[in-house]
Amino acid sequence: MRQAIMPSPGKIEFVDVPVPTSLKSNEVLLKIQKIGICGSDIHVFHGEHPATPYPVVQGHEYSAIVEAIGKKVVKVRPGMKATARPQLVCGECGPCRRGHYNACQNLKVQGFQAPGVAQDYFVVPEDRLIVLPDSISLEQGVMVEPVAVGAHSTNRSADLKGKNIVVSGAGTIGNLVAQFAKARGAKKILITDVSNYRLEIAKECGIEATLNVNDVPFKDGVKSYFGDEGFQVAFEAAGVQASLDVLIANVEKGGDVVILGVYANNPKINMYYVGEHELNIYGSMMYRHEDYEEAVKMIANGKIQTKPLISKRFPFSDYLKAYEYIDNQKDKTMKVIIDL
Ligand SMILES: NC(=O)c1ccc[n+]([C@@H]2O[C@H](COP(=O)([O-])OP(=O)(O)OC[C@H]3O[C@@H](n4cnc5c(N)ncnc54)[C@H](O)[C@@H]3O)[C@@H](O)[C@H]2O)c1
Ligand SMILES: [Zn+2]
Ligand SMILES: [Zn+2]
Repeated sequence: MRQAIMPSPGKIEFVDVPVPTSLKSNEVLLKIQKIGICGSDIHVFHGEHPATPYPVVQGHEYSAIVEAIGKKVVKVRPGMKATARPQLVCGECGPCRRGHYNACQNLKVQGFQAPGVAQDYFVVPEDRLIVLPDSISLEQGVMVEPVAVGAHSTNRSADLKGKNIVVSGAGTIGNLVAQFAKARGAKKILITDVSNYRLEIAKECGIEATLNVNDVPFKDGVKSYFGDEGFQVAFEAAGVQASLDVLIANVEKGGDVVILGVYANNPKINMYYVGEHELNIYGSMMYRHEDYEEAVKMIANGKIQTKPLISKRFPFSDYLKAYEYIDNQKDKTMKVIIDL
């Protein structure tokens, strides 16, 4: 079978490796169909990911068709659509024992610290497998992973029901966080970015209020949208200092700031301000199994839109071209999909 391997930053080589043959009783052989490329993959491609050694096989957001199952597998049958969580956890550390396994002390993510799915067939254990209902397309299946990030992060802070929300950053992640906040009953949602293209996609996904912080200062934008109500929960999904600064400085006293962004440069926060305003800062790390399940449910019932986020598709053999396209398009592209 074909495997795409990245021997060093900026390179992809195709090699021929054997199809996995023997399955353990709890394992499922997947025929990989579509793989999504996200910002973290691009960091790896550029040699700028802090925790990814080379060579690496990428691919952590994907959809597949079940090819074969181990003797004890009950969740799926061959021919069904599926995906799986890419997290390898130890099960023994403190966080794992407390059910906080998405923050496992020994976490390895497939496609980064462990081999990913950029190949024709891939084996996963049943417990990390998620069945995709017939009503979900293979492209929607690819989006389950980032949607699960939205599901998880919008459960981190206080209940969003009736609250006003700001999501800073309208990339794939911020977009899906905003959609989830809406689905969880937030009152008003404002999404910000410096890219009108991305803000337009947020609108297509049903997030009506957008703000380009290059055109209107953040403070003025939130004042004109929320008025005296202000906003109570902020999601940082840009991963830059400027975005974090305006959220901390403007969220209502006693409010919540949820951190999704991965910062290339460690930001400085005015901690005096955090203390004085009694702000709550929450980290948000990927997802747990129930977030994947909720993601599938919310895509299937139409509450989360994924179609407007998909910019372009490339065949497997053009993996490298997909990266070149992303580099050239910059903020004029969102999700790019590799079709096997
Ligand atoms: N915590 C998690 O589990 C998790 C999972 C996936 C991705 N991430 C991280 O979340 C962040 C967002 O991911 P993405 O794939 O959407 O990335 P992305 O780069 O596509 O989106 C970031 C967006 O922020 C915008 N932006 C830049 N400066 C801004 C500013 N000052 N104010 C508002 N917006 C600004 C950019 O124009 C861009 O549209 C990244 O840092 C990524 O590494 C976290
Ligand atoms: Zn990703
Ligand atoms: Zn662990």
